[in-house]
Amino acid sequence: MNKSFVWGVATSSYQIEGAAYEDGKGLSIWDIYCTQPDKIFEGHSGDIACNHYHLYKEDISLMKQMGIKAYRFSISWPRVLPNGVGEVNQKGLQFYLNLVNELLEAGIEPYVTLFHWDLPYELHKKGGWLNSDSPKWFKEYTKVIVEAFGDKVTNYITFNEPQCFIGHGYSGGVHAPGLKHSTQDLLQMTHHILLSHGESVKTIRELAPYAKVGIATTALMHYPTSNTPEDIESARKAVMDEIFKSENAWPWSVSWWGDPIFLGKYPEEGLKYLEKYMPKIKDGDMEIISQPLDFLGQNIYNGYEITTSPNGEVEIVNREIGHGKTALNWPITPKSLYWGPKFLYERYKKPIFITENGLSCHDVVSLDGKVHDPNRIDFLHRYLKEFKKAGEDGVEIAGYFEWSFMDNFEWHSGYADRFGIVYVDFTTQERIIKDSGYWYKTVIETNGKNL
Ligand code: FCB
Repeated sequence: MNKSFVWGVATSSYQIEGAAYEDGKGLSIWDIYCTQPDKIFEGHSGDIACNHYHLYKEDISLMKQMGIKAYRFSISWPRVLPNGVGEVNQKGLQFYLNLVNELLEAGIEPYVTLFHWDLPYELHKKGGWLNSDSPKWFKEYTKVIVEAFGDKVTNYITFNEPQCFIGHGYSGGVHAPGLKHSTQDLLQMTHHILLSHGESVKTIRELAPYAKVGIATTALMHYPTSNTPEDIESARKAVMDEIFKSENAWPWSVSWWGDPIFLGKYPEEGLKYLEKYMPKIKDGDMEIISQPLDFLGQNIYNGYEITTSPNGEVEIVNREIGHGKTALNWPITPKSLYWGPKFLYERYKKPIFITENGLSCHDVVSLDGKVHDPNRIDFLHRYLKEFKKAGEDGVEIAGYFEWSFMDNFEWHSGYADRFGIVYVDFTTQERIIKDSGYWYKTVIETNGKNL
């Protein structure tokens, strides 16, 4: 990796902070959703989570011990603005200032995500992303944060995975707020989210011209079965275009979000199917949405192997029996970390950060008191090798954030899935660096030479 490559770990507010009802924090849609019966595995919630709100110093000292250079975390909007707009909760804001100060003292660079799904409940009651004021709300929130941080924070990510919170939260109904909206409503929300992103970028540029700004999107990252031009083209199409053919799958598309942001227009391939449901797009909207960004953050976990049928169609290669899987039953497909960045770089021409990549394992504390997770080491090693190769083949690779720093509240799976390279005992809040955490330290120390 080149000298400036950023080695980091990632988390998000609701998944780790806890202190859901402390120090004047307002409610988020996740606080409410978790109180509903049968929504979350065994009725878990993020009320306490990793108690990071109180243990952040200890967590940062672990990061330092592990040689971690950058930390991607998100801010709980209702912790800072309990009503989403208006009065600022100084205690909440102070928590993030303390966190940033502690990181800087430890020599760890903060990467701040403004929105990782915990929308203020008060704004939800006003219609949330359906409300045409939502870009204004997000702009106000951005201003509060950027003004408070000043030049202490020089890296911002506006949204985390709009695909996922729209797809799961407002279409599939399995994440907060648990709704199933019409396509018209979903597209209206999408447009408001894109405008919110654009307004936020403009605000950051005005208040912190020195800062680097991006977004973290996600998608399945398919890869070709062979290196023939036909298969490569089929895999590219599978990533960018094919998804629009399946009904209700479009929120998960990478181009539906990426094209407006990086290319200033919704993708033709998607419009073929979605035009009839589209909201009105006002003059100037696309300019707001396509504010120039410094980087693209992409969360990549897996994809399908793609081939070309005899008549030239995109075809999924069936996974062989016994194909490797994670504890969440996600397929292990390291090539996603080569082809994903390559396809994205070709299309958007921006330096790429992997803003999330990792896996859940059935981790246990062994008799020796340690957490041995060879599967995680093997997974990360294979994926990182592919990412490194993408860099060698011309993709501008800027950094990598392992998901996640520590085990945490994995949305509707509650605490059943452990994604951390640090183990958390959720009864005692004890942390144990897993074998993978020590391994990651060596990768960072050698700047990826040992991959
Ligand atoms: C991503 C989310 C993140 C985490 C990982 C496993 O979709 O952004 O919060 O849940 O998946």
